[in-house]
Amino acid sequence: MLLSCHVPNLRHPSKWMFAPLLLLLAKLGCSAQPTYQWRDAVSNAQLTCQQCPPGTFVAQHCTRDRPTQCEPCPDLHYTQYWNYLEKCRYCNVICGEKQVEVQQCNSTHNRVCQCQDGYYSEMEFCVRHSKCLPGFGVEKLGTPFENTQCRACPRGFFSSSNSSTKPCQPHQNCEQQGKVVNVEGNQYHDTLCTSCRRDRNNSTQGPAPGDDDCEQALIDFVAYQNIPIRKLKRLQQILEHSPRKQALGTRAAMQEKFRAFLIHLREGHPVTKELLVALRTAKLHSIEEQARERFLLR
Ligand SMILES: *[C@@H]1O[C@H](CO)[C@@H](O)[C@H](O)[C@H]1NC(C)=O
Ligand SMILES: *[C@@H]1O[C@H](CO)[C@@H](O)[C@H](O)[C@H]1NC(C)=O
Ligand SMILES: *[C@@H]1O[C@H](CO)[C@@H](O)[C@H](O)[C@H]1NC(C)=O
Ligand SMILES: *[C@@H]1O[C@H](CO)[C@@H](O)[C@H](O)[C@H]1NC(C)=O
Repeated sequence: MLLSCHVPNLRHPSKWMFAPLLLLLAKLGCSAQPTYQWRDAVSNAQLTCQQCPPGTFVAQHCTRDRPTQCEPCPDLHYTQYWNYLEKCRYCNVICGEKQVEVQQCNSTHNRVCQCQDGYYSEMEFCVRHSKCLPGFGVEKLGTPFENTQCRACPRGFFSSSNSSTKPCQPHQNCEQQGKVVNVEGNQYHDTLCTSCRRDRNNSTQGPAPGDDDCEQALIDFVAYQNIPIRKLKRLQQILEHSPRKQALGTRAAMQEKFRAFLIHLREGHPVTKELLVALRTAKLHSIEEQARERFLLR
């Protein structure tokens, strides 16, 4: 490629000639072309040569008689800027593990790689987006450049899972569903509603104490009491007739496990009686009392 756009030597530009020159260049479809100084080997003269545009390189420097000769970059090579390089640069970026190519190598741009979905770049590596722990929700989703941002769930909201996508969810409203609050929600779990009646003197509405709904309500009620985690573990051991070894976790995690265990147990047979006995055995008397009171289990 030979550039046809001739630029006069601008060694001594003066203010008055500058504006008309730019106008002329614009008319010719040439933006102001950068130049460089080059000493001609034959004549030993100092020349001002035109640079080559992006995508090309200097095949031959200019001489007194002809302008710079530019040629397009070969495959897998590029020049991004006006230049007087004698060779194009090699597209040296190679996409690594967990990366995807977001910009191909062409004559003007190096290859560009980015972390794949679910990863962000940290110190040259692609690292998986963090999950927000239970009690924390996603405030800002991770991007290829930034990790997930989590925040503690504020009052009225909860998150019960490890998730890199879920924000904190608002607690449900039992009244709107015509139910009553069985367990107040916190940052780790939702509010739990029940239609198991608590008022003794009204037998016209809702399930009666001792039936399925009430048993579930009892399970929820007990599981989410502020029982110390060692006591929770003990309670579960009493109810499991062949206790398994289990690791202690956070209270919220233990509560979830205990509740899941009770729900599983209930698939086999009613658990109300057994649970009350276990509460007594574990010396959780006040909780046993509250449960009896609340669910009319005298
Ligand atoms: C090379 O890729 C860049 C970015 O994708 C694009 O802007 C440019 O036009 C391309 N150049 C050529 C010569 O195709
Ligand atoms: C969340 O992740 C932590 C640590 O990786 C783990 O201990 C815990 O059991 C997980 N909790 C849930 C609800 O998946
Ligand atoms: C229903 O029971 C509550 C206490 O649980 C009592 O205050 C109220 O007077 C009772 N109402 C009737 C109609 O018996
Ligand atoms: C019993 O419950 C129903 C529905 O909640 C209510 O309309 C009714 O007034 C209640 N009766 C008493 C005696 O509390």
